[in-house]
Amino acid sequence: MKINSHYLELQNNYLFSTVAKKTAAFQAANPSLDVLRLSIGDVTLPLCPSVVRALHNATDEMASAATFRGYGPEQGYGFLREALCKYYKGFGVDLEPTEVFVSDGAKSDLGNVLDILSNENSVLIPDPVYPAYLDVNVMLGRRILTVAGNRENGFKPSPEDAPVADIIYICSPNNPTGAAYNRTELKAWVDFALAHGSLILYDAAYEAFIRDNTLPHSIYEIEGSRNCAIELCSFSKTAGFTGTRCGYTVVPHTLVFDGTELNHLWNRRQCTKFNGVPYIVQRAAEAVFSEQGQSEIHSALSYYFDNATTIHEGLNALGIWHTGGVSSPYIWMECPKGLSSWDFFDILLERGNVVGTPGAGFGKQGEGYFRLTAFGDREKTKEAVKRLTAVIQGL
Ligand code: MLT
Repeated sequence: MKINSHYLELQNNYLFSTVAKKTAAFQAANPSLDVLRLSIGDVTLPLCPSVVRALHNATDEMASAATFRGYGPEQGYGFLREALCKYYKGFGVDLEPTEVFVSDGAKSDLGNVLDILSNENSVLIPDPVYPAYLDVNVMLGRRILTVAGNRENGFKPSPEDAPVADIIYICSPNNPTGAAYNRTELKAWVDFALAHGSLILYDAAYEAFIRDNTLPHSIYEIEGSRNCAIELCSFSKTAGFTGTRCGYTVVPHTLVFDGTELNHLWNRRQCTKFNGVPYIVQRAAEAVFSEQGQSEIHSALSYYFDNATTIHEGLNALGIWHTGGVSSPYIWMECPKGLSSWDFFDILLERGNVVGTPGAGFGKQGEGYFRLTAFGDREKTKEAVKRLTAVIQGL
């Protein structure tokens, strides 16, 4: 028996586990201190009333023999796939329900989708980036290439600077930098993928945060993308489903490589390896798309944007360079006084009892930067900004 030795090539711990461990150790050593967390992008508002009602109703259905459901379709129930198609129609995108696969979240499918793609493929990953893209490919021993995001390109890496690769990950609005591609910039990536026969894995987990209507919510708003892109999305940040678990993956029928529809392969994979998302959760996700549900989730998003404004104002007052927080829940700031991102993490935790995420955890280009999230409680966010201000002023 041999292990998959590629796991030994991974960094010792997943970024957010390291942050959580360090925070827990600090809290254990200082039990009386109130540690404020602006680190992992986990929501704090409860599920909205429409979603909770749908969960209750669906639970009642499960309690009656006449309406009880066992295994559901591996691809997701028709009612949710259709609701998603209707949502995309709002962006001018026509999808067929058979192109939409309901999942337990974007993170799972970002790794799962690699099952249907040869391990010989090279992978292009932006740097800085959500660390799961890197890990899931290191686990398979894939050849990994990077393209830099930096202050000069607005943390929006361009294909002009990119090596050719078989698989390309794009996340817009971006985690961790908050940068969002416009149509022209995204079209450049689609053209690049089409020219080189590459597949784009497009992570749209933060699309609901887009407030500038000229920005694309979906890669399928871009001509040619149906021939080169899979899109992954999640209800986690849109509707507070981080603990409820639901997402979806779009695999257009027009996506054909080696004469094979990827939709067919993905469907085949799901039928064998996945037994679907719970019925009650899919009913809850469906409720997000009702008129009432949309209004409720948008008021939750406004709450988070108010937190982003609080963070912006604090950083502006300090004269600290930062970006994000406009079409995104993340604020990406420069570390003060040229500190490394882990040094700033330690100082902020020890002196201010505030936790953020070190930019270096998202890649080499993230060194010298730090990520704060707007997903916190309002009063705690205000207090965290006060403490951050005091720490930075005291440096
Ligand atoms: C983050 O903080 O980057 C996210 O919460 C991670 C995730 O969505 O898995």
